[in-house]
Amino acid sequence: MDAQTKQAMFPNMGMGLGLRTPHYRDILDGRTDVAWFEAISENYMDDGGRPILMLEKIRERYPIALHGVSLSIASTDPLDQEYLKRLKDLVGRIEPSIVSDHCCWTGVDGQNLHDLMPIPYTDEVLNHVAERILQVQDVLGRRILIENVSSYIAFRHSEMTEADFLAALSEKADCGLLLDVNNVYVNSVNHAFDAGEFLKTIPKDRVGQIHLAGHSRTENADGSIVLVDTHDQPVCSDVWNLYRQSVERFGAVSTMIEWDAAIPDHQELLSEIGKAKIIQEAVIEKR
Ligand SMILES: [Fe+2]
Repeated sequence: MDAQTKQAMFPNMGMGLGLRTPHYRDILDGRTDVAWFEAISENYMDDGGRPILMLEKIRERYPIALHGVSLSIASTDPLDQEYLKRLKDLVGRIEPSIVSDHCCWTGVDGQNLHDLMPIPYTDEVLNHVAERILQVQDVLGRRILIENVSSYIAFRHSEMTEADFLAALSEKADCGLLLDVNNVYVNSVNHAFDAGEFLKTIPKDRVGQIHLAGHSRTENADGSIVLVDTHDQPVCSDVWNLYRQSVERFGAVSTMIEWDAAIPDHQELLSEIGKAKIIQEAVIEKR
């Protein structure tokens, strides 16, 4: 995928925010400078009711990205065709600029774990996930973005790094990548790798969106540090630095803040978005 195709497939919408119910009032009253919103697909998959009507109202004024949490693209269960049908209906109704989900599995044997579970990075898994992404893209009639997840364990079976896996996956499935810069940082600490090297491994023209978020830090009894992707605080300085490096490599792509717990008032969120904008503009000006 070259830069032009990337821009056509995953247009740069500027600075966005993860859409959560506490924001509805500010958005509909026009008290926001946010350029676009990312909605969690599963929250709007019912035909009727307030959520979808609210999303349609917001969509009248703003571009929307649809971000799923239940595609379970890496599971060994068959793809859930009923889920895909409902997702396709939602895509038809909202006409989002971007559709994405995670590089993970969320259940097996019909059981939903309600969490984003990590995978072993092997050729076998790569072929399996790529094949399923191609099927999803076929059903939806468009390319999707796949997001790197945070993880707290690694598999001994892995034959390649996470970054090598994502790079190969995006080529094989001809999909885009949603780069969660906080997840790269969290994993680099939890699994002791160089986050800068991770970015250099990801193909320049596959990243169509960036997530930024805050995380929590815990210390184990043995003194080791574990970072947990809690989305409940401001973006830390190390992640801002990594964001700067990401813009240097991937250019100006749609960027948004995920804040899911202990959500601050709208002004504080706007100031986080403002920081991202300043960094992005400074990097692009220097180019
Ligand atoms: Fe994310």
